[in-house]
Amino acid sequence: MMRVKIIQVFRHWKICIWLTFGIAVVVLLVLIYWHPAVHAFKFVWSPEYRECVLQSRNYELEEKSTPLYVTLKFHGRLGNWMYGYASLLGIAKANGYIPYLPSSHPLVSYFPLTKIRSSNAECLQVVYDERPCTYNPLFFNLPPGNITIDGYLQSWKYFRFMEEEIRHEFKLHTHLKISARDQLNGYVGKYLKEGHLVISIHVRRGDVLTEGAKKMGFRHAPASYFQSAMSYMLERYPNSVFFVTSDDIEWCKENIKSPRSVHSNQIKTAAPVVFSESTHFWEDFAMLTLCNHSIISVGTFGWWSAWLANGHVVYYKDYSFPGSKLDYETTREDFFPTHWVSLSSGLCSKNINTCTFFLIAVSVFQHMFDL
Ligand SMILES: *[C@@H]1O[C@H](CO)[C@@H](O)[C@H](O)[C@H]1NC(C)=O
Ligand SMILES: *[C@@H]1O[C@H](CO)[C@@H](O)[C@H](O)[C@H]1NC(C)=O
Repeated sequence: MMRVKIIQVFRHWKICIWLTFGIAVVVLLVLIYWHPAVHAFKFVWSPEYRECVLQSRNYELEEKSTPLYVTLKFHGRLGNWMYGYASLLGIAKANGYIPYLPSSHPLVSYFPLTKIRSSNAECLQVVYDERPCTYNPLFFNLPPGNITIDGYLQSWKYFRFMEEEIRHEFKLHTHLKISARDQLNGYVGKYLKEGHLVISIHVRRGDVLTEGAKKMGFRHAPASYFQSAMSYMLERYPNSVFFVTSDDIEWCKENIKSPRSVHSNQIKTAAPVVFSESTHFWEDFAMLTLCNHSIISVGTFGWWSAWLANGHVVYYKDYSFPGSKLDYETTREDFFPTHWVSLSSGLCSKNINTCTFFLIAVSVFQHMFDL
């Protein structure tokens, strides 16, 4: 009698386990279906894209008789244009196509670009780049035809085999370089004379703080990130001055404080911090490229200033909210060169797994109910 009861209880117990397991699987499937990661891959199936990719298969077999051209439909602002131009040159080179851009392009007023030329290319076929900050190797196998690429092409991997050429393309016009040098000297000349290095800090806030950007998953870099980054730099370059530029310089003046550094005479002094008063993005950009090392927050503007400065670079690790659209659509390794150093704001640095899990759960919940 006793034995039968125990077996019955045991059976119920088993059923409960299976039921719980079944429900968990269903819930998981629903979450996965809703999760932005699934949508991130939809670009592969967009009809125009598939058409072009399918056509490219027999390319090797065809004879290339007439030269083919490739151009880009530009979006965004300075940083995105630069990404577009650099990647266009890389993609053209890899495919053996001729890159061209209208000579009215705004980049021409900043850099003496050599690859800008007009063209009378016909039958332009449009190929889309739909994933931000992600390298797509299919662009190195373009369909046989005259092509317009529509998108951002935000990955250093599109031009990694011609870095020197790209640096040459993006040398500032001489008169701009001279005025940027004078301007930077006005800010930090005194420290340069004392043998200091200049470490730039670019703080992007403006558009990163909008509701749309937040919903997409952008997180602006908090003061604690800049503190860690400044300490990191001072450990390596103790004799340094920080030069801060931003679209919100007032916030910087209140929040960016110098950590202490040790000078050769062993007296602890705070490293100097100088704020740019320039109101034109170009002046800031040009000065940033002349600094020795770079601390950046979010976006392609800071990215390019750091790439051109070509020193030690620290970037903000937590630029996207875990589990957000931005997090799933972008690919960190494709966007940030591998030798750049990422630092976080300190938030979540302990107990990272629980914290990440919690953030993902919150974000999946947000997506499900479209909050
Ligand atoms: C590409 O454009 C060039 C220049 O107009 C033209 O000669 C060529 O036939 C075009 N090629 C294709 C495949 O459309
Ligand atoms: C650091 O940057 C300044 C300003 O551009 C430059 O004059 C100096 O030569 C650089 N120092 C080093 C060691 O590269």
